[in-house]
Amino acid sequence: MENQWNEMYCLAKQWAKEAAERIKETFSEELQIQSKTSRKDIVTNVDKEIEQFFSRKLNETFPEHKMLGEEGIGHDLIDQKGIVWIIDPIDGTLNFVHQKRNFAISIGIYEDGIAKIGIIYDVMLDEMYHAMEGQGAFLNEQKLKKLQEIDIEESIIAMNTTWLLPNKLLPYEKAVSLVKSARGTRSFGSAAIEIASVAAGRVDAYMAVSLAPWDIAGGAVIIKEVGGLFTTIDGKILAGTESKTSLLVAKPGLHKQIIKTIKNP
Ligand code: IPD
Ligand code: CA
Ligand code: CA
Repeated sequence: MENQWNEMYCLAKQWAKEAAERIKETFSEELQIQSKTSRKDIVTNVDKEIEQFFSRKLNETFPEHKMLGEEGIGHDLIDQKGIVWIIDPIDGTLNFVHQKRNFAISIGIYEDGIAKIGIIYDVMLDEMYHAMEGQGAFLNEQKLKKLQEIDIEESIIAMNTTWLLPNKLLPYEKAVSLVKSARGTRSFGSAAIEIASVAAGRVDAYMAVSLAPWDIAGGAVIIKEVGGLFTTIDGKILAGTESKTSLLVAKPGLHKQIIKTIKNP
């Protein structure tokens, strides 16, 4: 069984690299863009093709495994029993379309609902963040260090401007208080890259309003392996398989300070 997990870990990384090559090839082809729920929520033929690529690889290699992908494959998946691959073929599609950079392939592999393997591949930087439960997290070949504590006054928090719109989770004044408390804020436009950036210590926390399993599943083990916290905005531990969830990923001490600031500005 351990061998099968090692094989899955190797293949997931290999397939992500192959998928990335294909994504880069498509830069010279005409892109077909469709809007999904709104003009801000778009999908391209490349997102769909890459999701199909992973589905094909899985059917050929591990036909007994299940897959949940953003662009439709396994969308009706309710039962998390067994091995489930949760895949976002392109996280940061707006960046992919507008910038041709700052997007990632995200893969989370779960057994009975528990995160075992996580891969986040920043395609254009050729940076692969990866982890298997109990073995540490890596950025390419380099092992990532355990996260160091930091005060909120010295922290950089990744968050997007959605927090400024009316929402049930965080009143505007509390968001302002948080922005004032931090040293700086950043917004990368890819939840997967933002989660991975916390693991690498490039930002100290990331918070988001409403994410899907494919946005976050790849990051769950990676964050756990560096000692970070992976919770909702009010501190409930997340597995990474939850739908439409808020997310707060942070260094442990900072996590507490963010929640305190949000509750008592
Ligand atoms: C989106 C990105 C974005 C986040 C959105 C996600 P997509 O994923 O991760 O940063 O703010 O909520 O839907 O649609 O580019 O795969
Ligand atoms: Ca996504
Ligand atoms: Ca996507």
